[in-house]
Amino acid sequence: MSPQVPSPVFYEVDPDEVHRVLLLYSGGLDTSVMLKWIQDQYQAEVVALTVDLGQPGEDFEVVREKALRLGAVDCRVVDARQEFVREYVLPAIKANAVYGLGYPLFTALGRPLIAKLAVQHAREAGCDTVAHGCTGKGNDQVRIEATIATLGPELKVIAPVRSWRMGREEEVRYAREHGIPVKGGSETPPYSIDDNLWGRSSEGRWIEELEHPPEDDVFQLVTRPEDAPEEAEIVTVEFERGRPVALNGERLDLVPLLERTAEIGARHGVGIVDHIEDRIVGLKVRDIYEVPAATILLTAHRELEKLVGTIHQNQLKPLLDQRWAYLVYAGLWWEPLREDLDAYMEAANAQVTGTIGLKLYKGSVRVVSRSSPHAVYDAQLATFATSGGLFSQQAAPGFIELHSLQSRMAWRLRHGEEDQGRS
Ligand code: ARG
Repeated sequence: MSPQVPSPVFYEVDPDEVHRVLLLYSGGLDTSVMLKWIQDQYQAEVVALTVDLGQPGEDFEVVREKALRLGAVDCRVVDARQEFVREYVLPAIKANAVYGLGYPLFTALGRPLIAKLAVQHAREAGCDTVAHGCTGKGNDQVRIEATIATLGPELKVIAPVRSWRMGREEEVRYAREHGIPVKGGSETPPYSIDDNLWGRSSEGRWIEELEHPPEDDVFQLVTRPEDAPEEAEIVTVEFERGRPVALNGERLDLVPLLERTAEIGARHGVGIVDHIEDRIVGLKVRDIYEVPAATILLTAHRELEKLVGTIHQNQLKPLLDQRWAYLVYAGLWWEPLREDLDAYMEAANAQVTGTIGLKLYKGSVRVVSRSSPHAVYDAQLATFATSGGLFSQQAAPGFIELHSLQSRMAWRLRHGEEDQGRS
């Protein structure tokens, strides 16, 4: 496995220089095999780091014990949920962040934080190298390694899944030989799952066949819309300066607010996205996402923003939102343009205060009510009933004449003669 030619990439490792490795450890098969494999291959010590970003149903004590049993000299479990929602998810809400029209970026938002913690803990624990379980075909390797190369340029990186050339069966065999517990049989490979507070993704198996509609067993978070309650439910979300602060009138911190929103949405079958995605590394792939909290909160936020923004703000912001989402998707969280854009997002969100009501019913989310002290809206002006005040209907024809002036001139230049006789 040692490369014949010196690697051209500055953070790739010289096997003789690996003494103590910080392994980003999830407790799954790949990173468990890795935990042993690194000790064998490099004669190195392994410090495991597991990051809690609110993966539903995960027991981190079990993960920790497993790491220690497999020979880690230490396993650190970091509860990063607060930091994740405040520093990563909240800016994403303010930027209405969705990539490729459907993916609310939960994984893409989590990776720079996980990698930042890896740098911090590697330094604290005296590690020379960071190891992660990403494959060579995904976006996550880009996000993690770009972060490490930016924040911890003295650290080396190893990505065994990318280099060890073990297939699934060999991995399972390796696991069995080394006393690593393998969940279920090895007959059906599991879906590849990633999840946190902001959503859950599944890849692999039949998902790779584009004509294959989703099988029910993929949905582990969201109720199938067919099985959702017959009764619709209205939820209200209150925002202050772009930040969701209350659900159904109850003020909540961000972590419980996200969890509660996800629960209600999941019950009503909300947030299933069957998504074709252009990866950064060139591949086009299909993902099944379950994103109940993001679907509800982004719908509400977008609606409120539209209500308080002017026509000009409302036309520009989606362009910047899209740019923000692309940078984050592409693993460029630390790129200064992201912070520049965040400054704009903050300014635009200064007015985003108010409450949005949404009706949830068998997978659908529909805005049904809006209120804001900053709404650029005046029922008196908008009504069909009367005229007067700030808006003069008498001024409308003059406006139309000038508003259409250039377009009329151009029309005449292009179609002039033939049209003169008509109308
Ligand atoms: N396609 C999504 C992304 O690129 C989700 C990736 C999920 N990651 C995983 N290791 N299963 O962000």
